[in-house]
Amino acid sequence: MIQPYYQDETTTLYNADCLDVMPQIAAESVDVIWTDPPYGHNNNNNGDLIARWEVALGQKLHYTPESDDRPIANDSMDDMKRVVDGALTEAARVLRKDCCCCCCCCGGGGPKPTFAWVANRMDEKGLSFFHAVVWDKGGLGMGWRYRRNYEMVMIAHRRGGKLKWETQSKGLETANVVRLRKIIPTADEHPTPKPVALVAHFLRLHAKAGDLVLDPFMGAGTTGVACAQMGLRFVGIEIDEHWCEIAKRRIIEAKSQGMLQFDIASSL
Ligand SMILES: C[S@@+](CC[C@H](N)C(=O)[O-])C[C@H]1O[C@@H](n2cnc3c(N)ncnc32)[C@H](O)[C@@H]1O
Repeated sequence: MIQPYYQDETTTLYNADCLDVMPQIAAESVDVIWTDPPYGHNNNNNGDLIARWEVALGQKLHYTPESDDRPIANDSMDDMKRVVDGALTEAARVLRKDCCCCCCCCGGGGPKPTFAWVANRMDEKGLSFFHAVVWDKGGLGMGWRYRRNYEMVMIAHRRGGKLKWETQSKGLETANVVRLRKIIPTADEHPTPKPVALVAHFLRLHAKAGDLVLDPFMGAGTTGVACAQMGLRFVGIEIDEHWCEIAKRRIIEAKSQGMLQFDIASSL
């Protein structure tokens, strides 16, 4: 039995492989899964990212491999597919009937976008793919020519169920494009942070106060911060101890600040 890295009344964090922890979670006990798995792009390894920016900008950038590399665990295409497959299989078991699984997928069109693969795997692993929502990140993204400016959030529910909508959200009419400026991380922050308001947007639609939210690829704990600010219970799993510790600190700090209201409409 894997023991939590941190636990309080509403939050449980594990510093472990989600493929080992998820089988410990009781069947049909989770109300929402919101997660942002590795992208399968090796984005932050060995200066790949810097090399791409150098081509895009046409100039040499300062780069120190030891300090500037921030590789994400399981971020090769094969590893990403292995861990996402495993997590989706468990997602179909731990989700309550009619509950929602949101999976944020990088790609933004290319190269090798993974969102279509995720939608297929959702269907094959016991979920039922429902809708793809575009997160328009504003500005210009990575790459060149067609610069990547969006990510997809793939929405599913359990096979045989239907998607649960929560009526305390502002209204049930919601666009399938979410416009919200991305976060540019500093060198000591997680390399692929998501805005808290992005996660909060989906939680507001599909969860109510007291519900249990799971993020098996927690990173620096953005989903946990949103849960702390919205009165939701949270289980987060992160394989890298450094990010797990940062997630813990961010969630504790968010709890000390109390509940927040998010207004996604005015963010771009
Ligand atoms: C795209 S990042 C998530 C970023 C997060 N949404 C945030 O805002 O900070 C994916 C995370 O999954 C973690 N990860 C990769 N494989 C994992 C596994 N098998 N179990 C748990 N965490 C894993 C990586 O270490 C990485 O921090």
